[in-house]
Amino acid sequence: MYNENFDLPIQRASTHCVKYDLRQKLFDAPSAIPMWVADMDFRTPDFVIKAIQKRLEHEVLGYSFRSETYYHAIINWLETRHAWKIHKKWIAFSPGVVPALNMLVLALTQAGDGIIIQPPVYHPFRAAVNDHKRTLIENPLITISGRLSMDFDQLDELMPKAKMMIISNPHNPGGMVWKKTELERLGQLALKHQICVVSDDIHNDLVFKPHHYTPLSSLSDVLAQQTITCIAPSKTFNMAGMATSALIIPNTAWRMQYETLIESLHLNGGNVLGAVATEAAYTHGHEWLERLLEYLSQNLDFAETFFTSEMPKIKFIRPEGTYLAWLDCRALQLSDEALHQFFNQKAAVILNYGSLFGTGGSGFMRMNIACPRFTLEKALIQIKNAYQTLI
Ligand SMILES: Cc1ncc(COP(=O)(O)O)c(C=O)c1O
Repeated sequence: MYNENFDLPIQRASTHCVKYDLRQKLFDAPSAIPMWVADMDFRTPDFVIKAIQKRLEHEVLGYSFRSETYYHAIINWLETRHAWKIHKKWIAFSPGVVPALNMLVLALTQAGDGIIIQPPVYHPFRAAVNDHKRTLIENPLITISGRLSMDFDQLDELMPKAKMMIISNPHNPGGMVWKKTELERLGQLALKHQICVVSDDIHNDLVFKPHHYTPLSSLSDVLAQQTITCIAPSKTFNMAGMATSALIIPNTAWRMQYETLIESLHLNGGNVLGAVATEAAYTHGHEWLERLLEYLSQNLDFAETFFTSEMPKIKFIRPEGTYLAWLDCRALQLSDEALHQFFNQKAAVILNYGSLFGTGGSGFMRMNIACPRFTLEKALIQIKNAYQTLI
């Protein structure tokens, strides 16, 4: 039985760590508790660190290629964890999911082509469209029975103008794990209109019971041909600095277009330690991940109870997946600027601004709860003290 101590405080400041060491520069809040960017204040698992250390026993870090065991680790993980059978030849490399999204836009679409995103959504989606002069088409999420959902009717109308759609499953922010029925509907539309769906599934291992992750690509062979899935061990095992992710591209023509591009950019070699770390994570990670999910789930319980009882005007939207909670702060009736000031300066807790995620994000904040319970409690008390001055 794996016995990781997630309560252990880790000193991350002064390690060139984005979350801590850019607090002053980005938020003018050098000592605020950072609960923004999506990495965790937990140790990267020892089986990942040990695999890297073992590789370092050999003194040469020269050019390398990804091993058979690397591919098998990915294939086995997806099959055992997510009941998704893939073929080795479908796997392509990217030095990160955001680079993958940008390369897919470049490889598979032309300037001016329409690309659909569903805000509020992880902001690099919007940038991947705009930065390459594609046409941004928004299909904003709608609230149905208190849960953010896709607007399928509008999607049906928008898809004829689009060549590609980028989704986040689970969805960042908002934390929805798209249900099989929702994905089936989305898939039907993608097939009807023949558009390429890029599914960013970087958070796919971080799903809380009773919710269940379904890869869109796994729904049928024909849909697999229409879908590109991006995965990585980076969120799950807290190793984003390894810059190693994988794309699952069953469609041969699209895979070749992607590979032609990444090779022309000379980015396909990747990172020797990233490959070793990925293999170790996907080979040994099951039990550690179970413990992590339990801990995160208890953090969510703690935060949900705290907000509900102590700060009822801030609605804590419990994520079905991801460690990112979406806070509906509209009842505080603050402008976005005043809301940012309230959290970052007054409460001294740095959260991501909802407005960053585009349409529908105004009045919301995103809170990363992947930290020791002690830190979470401290942050919540600071927010409560600031809240009491407002009410
Ligand atoms: C939905 C989503 N995609 C991609 C990323 C980042 O991916 P990468 O670091 O591999 O570029 C994040 C990080 O927060 C994310 O939430």
